Amino acid sequence: MSKKNIAVLVSGGGTNLQSLIDSEKSGMFRDSKITLVISSKPGVYALERAKNNNIPALTLSRKDYGSIESYSKALAETLKQADIDLVVLAGFLTIIDSQVYEAFPNAIINIHPALIPSFCGKGYYGLHVHEAALKKGVKVSGATVHFVTPECDAGPIILQKAVEVKQDDTPETLQRRIMEQAEWKILPKAVQLFCRDQLSVKDNIVYIKEN
Ligand code: GAR
Repeated sequence: MSKKNIAVLVSGGGTNLQSLIDSEKSGMFRDSKITLVISSKPGVYALERAKNNNIPALTLSRKDYGSIESYSKALAETLKQADIDLVVLAGFLTIIDSQVYEAFPNAIINIHPALIPSFCGKGYYGLHVHEAALKKGVKVSGATVHFVTPECDAGPIILQKAVEVKQDDTPETLQRRIMEQAEWKILPKAVQLFCRDQLSVKDNIVYIKEN
């Protein structure tokens, strides 16, 4: 088992980043480390979290690039130069193209705040996901960690966790419950499985090896 360098990509508050930092501190990832945080937006609180924990962090702002292609090229080069083994999209809400996916096959994972294949794909991000779940009246929602492929939210599923929807939920209360009960648990768990070489993918299905 080799030590892995982890990059966490963020665009906002970074509570999922915090769950990864806390898990690393608790020894969950053995020798693997979060060695880089990249934000697609300047000034977000996730960057403070990186700074407070002495993790190198930088901002790659989409608006500084003329196209998705040039942005993706810069991102892929930055990750390669930093010798990254695992890329974690933790609330990273900027569109990137296949230059990044091809540079890291089965080595990019994303946390999505619903049970894929429900409430996912283009336009389903952040609170919009929970608004859609409440509008449909589902009684259970949850979160999914999956490998990232060029098709949005369609890559092989690593872990999922269901969370109860309550009658008086607002998008905000549902978001919070899903973060607390699902996202902050299954994202660190998936990173742990990856770092311990316990994940394999065959025909779009993820298999988890026992320790
Ligand atoms: C999280 O709920 C994450 O699942 C979601 O954005 C939020 C980021 O919160 N991601 C998506 O909707 C991706 N489609 P955070 O910055 O506090 O981790």
